Amino acid sequence: MINKIVMLPGDGIGAEVIYAAKEVLEAIAKKFDRQFEFSVHDIGGIAIDRHGTPLPTETVEACKKADAVLLGAVGGPKWDNNPSDLRPERGLLGIRKALDLYANLRPVKGFEKLLHASPLRQDIIQGSDLLIVRELTGGLYFGTPSERRNNGEDVVDTLAYSRKEIERIVDKAFQSAQLRKKHLTSVDKANVLESSKLWREIVEEKKVQYPDVTVEHVLVDACAMKLITNPTDFDVIVTENMFGDILSDEASVLTGSLGMLPSASLAEDGVGLYEPAHGSAPDIAGQGIANPIAMILSAAMMLRYSFEMNEEARAIEKAVEDVLNEGYHTKDLKSHDGTLVNTNEMTALITKAIL
Ligand code: NAI
Ligand code: MG
Repeated sequence: MINKIVMLPGDGIGAEVIYAAKEVLEAIAKKFDRQFEFSVHDIGGIAIDRHGTPLPTETVEACKKADAVLLGAVGGPKWDNNPSDLRPERGLLGIRKALDLYANLRPVKGFEKLLHASPLRQDIIQGSDLLIVRELTGGLYFGTPSERRNNGEDVVDTLAYSRKEIERIVDKAFQSAQLRKKHLTSVDKANVLESSKLWREIVEEKKVQYPDVTVEHVLVDACAMKLITNPTDFDVIVTENMFGDILSDEASVLTGSLGMLPSASLAEDGVGLYEPAHGSAPDIAGQGIANPIAMILSAAMMLRYSFEMNEEARAIEKAVEDVLNEGYHTKDLKSHDGTLVNTNEMTALITKAIL
């Protein structure tokens, strides 16, 4: 069986790290006798330059026909002043919507060897291992109206959710918790927002279906604090789109670098999309020094969630851990000792550890 993978490199370091992930997948194919077929398509700024749109129809069609999609990152200063429909982020929001990727899973695990790389105290972050389940197709980023009024002097954005949208993400989070430490933290702002009140009601209704999972509700502002004062209290966090966006960047400091955080975006039963949590990093793009690990761990998530290749996924994760334990690190992982390597060198080390 051939697994068809669409690669969307995008902009900046997105294009650098995605080829690192491809190399690692080729090593997996060799080691485990698997067949992956790759095709490359445009999204984001590069698609604007080449096709006049951040999300060409051809790209959407290719993704729909694929078994899984790997995405680098989009964006950069070159397109910052474009009108809103010609911005790279539109491509990203568009592909999430087109594939109905409602569940964004972001595991945040502190690697033992990288404890020093976090600005947080080691005794606080030691043992932290959590999963943020972020709703991805609703909420503020998609609600209408979203517009300027009154000659641009007034603005409105809309936070809208349907019961069905909340139910499916809450189910996904309960199921994820069942596979982990069976503790779910639902994050909302139910003291203020109507959308959060319904969210909380639905979590309360659903919990009877998952009696083995313990549930707590935490307000988003309190959660932001607890995440960096008591990170080991968390197992699975479920929250709406914007809260999840903010909390997952915050949680990245537990790992020492955004360059370590993978993500999976899943549909109900369609193709999944896998991308690092970081952006296109224009400040280091083109220098060949980006940390490829977030992208490589995203490829591991692809093997696990889209292809049910658990052993192969674990082989990647173990290779990453081994290479870090040997003291190799990219520039973003500030280290006092060990060996500083660039993107290609880190990729080669991980590939070698697999084979
Ligand atoms: P960013 O994640 O690109 O960079 C933040 C900081 O982390 C930078 O200093 C960068 O050098 C560093 N960093 C990120 N990933 C790294 C890696 N793999 N290795 C080493 N260092 C890394 O976020 P920023 O600067 O806010 O946004 C830059 C551009 O990326 C913008 O155009 C933004 O819209 C876009 N963006 C795209 C995302 C996506 O495609 N999913 C997500 C976030 C931002
Ligand atoms: Mg973000």
